[in-house]
Amino acid sequence: MDSLPREPVDGEAVRLRTPRESDAALVAAACADPLTQRFVPSMPDPYTRDDALWWITEASESMWAGGGASFAITDLGADEIIGSVAINRVIGARHQGEVGYWVAPWARGRRVASAATTTISEWAFQHGFARMELLAEHENVASQRVALAAGYRREGVRRAAGIGRDGGRHDLVAWVRLWDDPPGPVPRALPDVAGGQLTDGVVILRPLRTDDVDDLYALTNLPEVVNSTVPPVPPDPAEIALRCARAPSRWLAGERIDLTIRDAATGRFTGEIGLYYQEPTTGQAMIGYSMAPKWRGRGFATRAVRLVADWAFGHTDIARLIAGTAPSNVASQRVLEHVGFQREGLLRGRLPSAAGPRVDDLLYGLVAPGS
Ligand SMILES: CC(C)(COP(=O)(O)OP(=O)(O)OC[C@H]1O[C@@H](n2cnc3c(N)ncnc32)[C@H](O)[C@@H]1OP(=O)(O)O)[C@@H](O)C(=O)NCCC(=O)NCCS
Repeated sequence: MDSLPREPVDGEAVRLRTPRESDAALVAAACADPLTQRFVPSMPDPYTRDDALWWITEASESMWAGGGASFAITDLGADEIIGSVAINRVIGARHQGEVGYWVAPWARGRRVASAATTTISEWAFQHGFARMELLAEHENVASQRVALAAGYRREGVRRAAGIGRDGGRHDLVAWVRLWDDPPGPVPRALPDVAGGQLTDGVVILRPLRTDDVDDLYALTNLPEVVNSTVPPVPPDPAEIALRCARAPSRWLAGERIDLTIRDAATGRFTGEIGLYYQEPTTGQAMIGYSMAPKWRGRGFATRAVRLVADWAFGHTDIARLIAGTAPSNVASQRVLEHVGFQREGLLRGRLPSAAGPRVDDLLYGLVAPGS
């Protein structure tokens, strides 16, 4: 592949131009921000004007020399730098590059990164690239939303591909756009819930987040909740923290949604519910839930299952929901029956137990109306 041209590139909403020394003060202010420091561990900390000058003169030059590109992002018709977008780690034989970006804190939240990533990707395809990669940490939800907006599809997880500031390694989620993929946004198997929550006026279902760790840890360590978990082993605090931190990423991946069940009157945590999209090819997903003891017996779980089922049938391709209960778990079976699930059969030895023989699972199913 020929080296990429350095002339400015105009997209629909942004201009990409090469960075220059006069950008240094703004670059230093932008890159000293905690979010950039958190998600771009290669950035020096503290980030000084000299670091900015090094990026403008040396780092950018080495990206161009390696067959990639390094641009400042500006608004169309303006010259002031508001971010950076680059192509790095080029593998010429594969016609492949990796896109990376940051946006200054004062310019975030108005689609600058999405527009710049779309622009640089389509420009790269015009210049012979066939495959563009974008690697983001699970916890970097904004960056993964940029990937979807710019037409990148989730390919998988690169285990331990990232190196943190402390030298420790972490996984990176790989998003890829091919030269002939349609432009973004990429449709999502599990879209966001409108307004950020589901409610029937009595319960509120709110996407699981990092400040739910303590409540979720207490709930998931109750013996009866452990017994209904696969495998039936009490989780440790680190596992629950990771589950909360990665819930938004798994939702974006179309893998599963996790929500807390809250009392609408007080906003208090009362339980949790999840939907695991285990079989997208046949439109089948599995639902699971647990209530904190003092909130049981009030119909909250029934309301939560009904809200999730209505959302799934109304807003996704899911056409069939299943749920498994222990044969002795009459309360959970009542919840499912109230929502219209039917008992479909006993799956013998379906699940591993903590010790001893495998256990049976009573299967319930609910088919979307009109299916
Ligand atoms: C990631 C980053 C570049 C996004 O810049 P931006 O210009 O604000 O991005 P956009 O406005 O184009 O899109 C942001 C998307 O993330 C969402 N978002 C923003 N902040 C978020 C947050 N804290 N949690 C969840 N989503 C968030 C926005 O709603 C939007 O999603 P949508 O298009 O589905 O509505 C910016 O946050 C940043 O510079 N972060 C630090 C550096 C970094 O992470 N670089 C990428 C490394 S892989």
